[in-house]
Amino acid sequence: MAPFIATTSAPVNIACIKYWGKRDTKLILPTNSSLSVTLDQDHLRSTTTSRADPSFEKDRLWLNGVEEDIKAGGRMATCISEMKRMRKELVEDVDASAPPLSTFSVHIASYNNFPTAAGLASSASGFAALTASLAALYVLPSPPTTLSLIARQGSGSACRSLLGGFVAWNAGTLPSGLDSHAVQVAPETHWPDIHALICVVSDTKKGTSSTSGMQRTVETSALLQHRIKHVVPQRMTDISAAILARDFDRFAEITMADSNQFHAVALDTAPPIFYMNDVSRAIIAVVEEYNRVALLPENGGKRKAAYTYDAGPNAVIYAQAANLKEIINMIAYYFPQQDAFKDPFDLFKGAGVGEGALVSGFNASVAKKWERGSVKGLIHTRVGGGPRVLGQEESLLGNDGLPLTT
Ligand code: DP6
Repeated sequence: MAPFIATTSAPVNIACIKYWGKRDTKLILPTNSSLSVTLDQDHLRSTTTSRADPSFEKDRLWLNGVEEDIKAGGRMATCISEMKRMRKELVEDVDASAPPLSTFSVHIASYNNFPTAAGLASSASGFAALTASLAALYVLPSPPTTLSLIARQGSGSACRSLLGGFVAWNAGTLPSGLDSHAVQVAPETHWPDIHALICVVSDTKKGTSSTSGMQRTVETSALLQHRIKHVVPQRMTDISAAILARDFDRFAEITMADSNQFHAVALDTAPPIFYMNDVSRAIIAVVEEYNRVALLPENGGKRKAAYTYDAGPNAVIYAQAANLKEIINMIAYYFPQQDAFKDPFDLFKGAGVGEGALVSGFNASVAKKWERGSVKGLIHTRVGGGPRVLGQEESLLGNDGLPLTT
């Protein structure tokens, strides 16, 4: 009998309207809705293989080749048991001849194609890939929005990685969380022109995790309550409209305002939380100056870049494809590169970024030139699709049910 096995990959997503705060920490129900852009898996992805077998003694999981402890009642255990429950209810209870996979233990191997040291959150793509691979293994008929309910219980932001393009996570109101799921605002094909430049900023100190940081904000920040009630609902409506109208200027304005408000509520937390560092703030100054020039009537009068920061110092700059080259040049001018830029879209035709350059009219004194390596590297990617089911040749588990060593 052929083994019961499936491999899928899932994307990273970076929010424009930030999720920050839970109203239920066990079910992972947020205090506000959020919205993100799914990034292309050709560049950044988590790949997960799941296998069910009656000979397996217990559920086991390996992350980048290292076995993780699946703690009873923990996030991984919850996702696995919820998926087994769905297999039983949706397949085995309906078709008595279906193999009883929900009763077998599973072995799961997951691999991120980006280094954890890059400081990019891998929990979103990781839990999305886990959920998608179990859904493929169990041949579940469930749409991505239903699967997002499970990924959400692994890590809140993971629910948005079940869909491609522009994705909203509706906070919902039910105590059960059944209406707290991800929905697609627009597919990647609607606005493929949206590119992202990830600026990997050096940081030695260990930051506050999202999970603990956001709970401290919920407990202590008065500003968060204002944000939840009076700011986010309107921004969700406005940014969705901007996306549907492909209005980059408005998209950028809202994205930057929301990143700044998220970092303001972090500062409003007691004791305060600082995720951005001096390099992060210098990138803000540079992008703001770039937009000041772009907003001049003679230059078109519209913003051309949008920065956003998660719970760490790295910047993600969203922009339209045609402007990426001058944005990369600008970042390289202030932050001389240490790692060679991969240039996946061949903007520099093999010549490399060099020392960068500024657009005409740019006031160079808005920031100093930083020492080489202050921005460790740049990753250029774009909006992309949702999880993919991969072929047997991509499997991360060998015939013995253990991770392949590659
Ligand atoms: C700043 O999803 O990592 O990236 O639900 O506790 O696992 P948990 O938190 P997580 O928080 C992400 C916070 C953020 C904003 C966002 O992605 O919306």
